[in-house]
Amino acid sequence: MTVHKSTAQFAKDHSEAPPKAADTFNRLTVKPLTGAMGAELSGADLNNLDDQTFSEIVKALYDFGVIAFRDQNLAPETHKAFASRFGRLEVHPIVEGVEGHPEMIKMHKSANTESTFGVGWHSDNSFLENPSLGSIVYGDVIPPVGGDTLFANQYLAYETLSPGMKKMIASVNAVHSARDAYTSPTANEKYDGKGTIKYRHAEIIEHEVEHPVVRTHPATGRKALYVNPMFTLRFADMTREESAPLLEYLLRHCVREDFQCRVRWAKGTVTMWDNRCVQHAALNDCEGYERILYRVTIAGERPE
Ligand code: SIN
Repeated sequence: MTVHKSTAQFAKDHSEAPPKAADTFNRLTVKPLTGAMGAELSGADLNNLDDQTFSEIVKALYDFGVIAFRDQNLAPETHKAFASRFGRLEVHPIVEGVEGHPEMIKMHKSANTESTFGVGWHSDNSFLENPSLGSIVYGDVIPPVGGDTLFANQYLAYETLSPGMKKMIASVNAVHSARDAYTSPTANEKYDGKGTIKYRHAEIIEHEVEHPVVRTHPATGRKALYVNPMFTLRFADMTREESAPLLEYLLRHCVREDFQCRVRWAKGTVTMWDNRCVQHAALNDCEGYERILYRVTIAGERPE
């Protein structure tokens, strides 16, 4: 993301777009979503992508953290082919994939159930030793109202901390685990096989892994806050009670409204986000409507 100092500066830099964007983006038209992050890109057919357009997409992802494309028509094969250009695709260790496409999750909410998958702020699969680099989601059945996804810029979350706080957390690690998210009383209902998403009681649910609270993005070199309420349990070598005051502060801070953008889905919308510098949350506000999105995630590196 080109956000360095503040959301205001970011808005200023992009408010007179396209001049700045036109210099660096020749194939794509780039429309920022908010002053904090996110952009809608036009000019790319994800079924038919030349190298120049692909490299502009990568640049837009690094600049904006979240990129959305409208009116795409992705079959599972082409969805996976696009994602594979960024790296190896993961098979989710807990959620069962689509038949014939184990790397693809069908995020399906039926009309008469609540949204449960991805509701609450998180960074995808931060409970893995090598958490997901990015996620690419294709909108298929979209409710007429609700069901948007929120995103929060974790570079800004880090950059807006005071020098004292930055110093204090500079070499602190936090413990991440899928345990709370996948074994809470509501989560346990997931394993009865009756839901629209199938879950397995995998051993990984009980694992714990340590990641730095501040990570450096390997491509942009920028620092981002890396704790999230869904999977971060406590600071390393501390109890949950001891961790709570500071951790709860950071968890509130990292999703401040002025760090956010929102994607309103439509059939054919493809949204990609960079989990190394972005958190996201699906909204559970489309009761009475079906919602179906397909997601693949790309394997990432160990956070440093
Ligand atoms: C997720 O990928 O965590 C959920 C995204 C969504 O359903 O909006």
